[in-house]
Amino acid sequence: SWTMLNIVEEAVEAVRAQIGPEGRAICGLSGGVDSAVAAAIVQRAIGDRLTCVFVDHGLLRKGEAEQVERDFVAATGVKLRVVDAADRFLKALDGVTDPEEKRKIIGREFIRVFEDEQRAIIADGPVDFLVQGTLYPDVVESGGGTGTANIKSHHNVGGLPDDLQFQLVEPLRALFKDEVRRAGEELGLPAAMVWRQPFPGPGLGIRIVGAVSRERLEILREADAIAREELSRAGLDREIWQCPVVLLADVRSVGVQGDGRTYGHPVVLRPVSSEDAMTADWSRVPYDVLARISTRITNEVREVNRVVLDVTSKPPGTIEWE
Ligand code: XMP
Repeated sequence: SWTMLNIVEEAVEAVRAQIGPEGRAICGLSGGVDSAVAAAIVQRAIGDRLTCVFVDHGLLRKGEAEQVERDFVAATGVKLRVVDAADRFLKALDGVTDPEEKRKIIGREFIRVFEDEQRAIIADGPVDFLVQGTLYPDVVESGGGTGTANIKSHHNVGGLPDDLQFQLVEPLRALFKDEVRRAGEELGLPAAMVWRQPFPGPGLGIRIVGAVSRERLEILREADAIAREELSRAGLDREIWQCPVVLLADVRSVGVQGDGRTYGHPVVLRPVSSEDAMTADWSRVPYDVLARISTRITNEVREVNRVVLDVTSKPPGTIEWE
């Protein structure tokens, strides 16, 4: 639309003015819409003087790494460094079951990997600017101090300790989420990124109740992909705020699949509707959609023999299980 086009063009101009004709910038991509739109705006402003970094921690959902590495790059022409750090994250998470411990480890490893990349980029010449996808509500929240209880350590991957050596470039500071999505469309970004539902920085790592392993991630990734596909096909994407799929990795139950008895794992569907994630209600997903998800998951994911639905509001339940 006209106004969105203006907003994008103004943001590009402002970034150009801030960074100047020689300056270089770094931007971490998470796979989410905010960092993607921020990066696309800065790329329009300064081209190859922006280097994006995508740390693939191996905890993303099916297809999300490819969305960044292939589709986002194709749509924007951004200069991207990809770090395949899955082994490193899995090793650091080995045997860890406590949710906050998982978050700490993932956050710590993320910072270490990102700092290594920063050093490599700086070796090619000085970098003074760090791009962040801060939105207007984030600005209000951190400045206003409304005192909302935060019972989990919600550090998004991307909050880096030595950001202070950089000047921050925050092209989305005046925008709300829906405006960021419209800007993303205006910029021609992949629809799957623009319309992606909220997804936690620690990713699937906090959707496996129990220790994280490559095999368990693979199981969850397949089940999650099926749930997402069927919810989208049913036209429920806008109605559902997010739908975590959770693997109860340490629970087993008896089933019959194919021609024999199985002793597999349950997955939990957690579809919620919400305005801001502070409170949420469980979504009344039509039974036939639930039935399709259940049938497909138990048919297509060998290790899963039971699909259960979470019917808890927030409060008392949080949206995520960990
Ligand atoms: P809860 O589970 O607290 O989640 O109801 C509220 C919203 O926050 C997301 N979430 C996280 N996001 N890092 C993130 O970046 C985290 O550690 C984290 N934990 C929860 C959750 O997906 C929901 O949208």
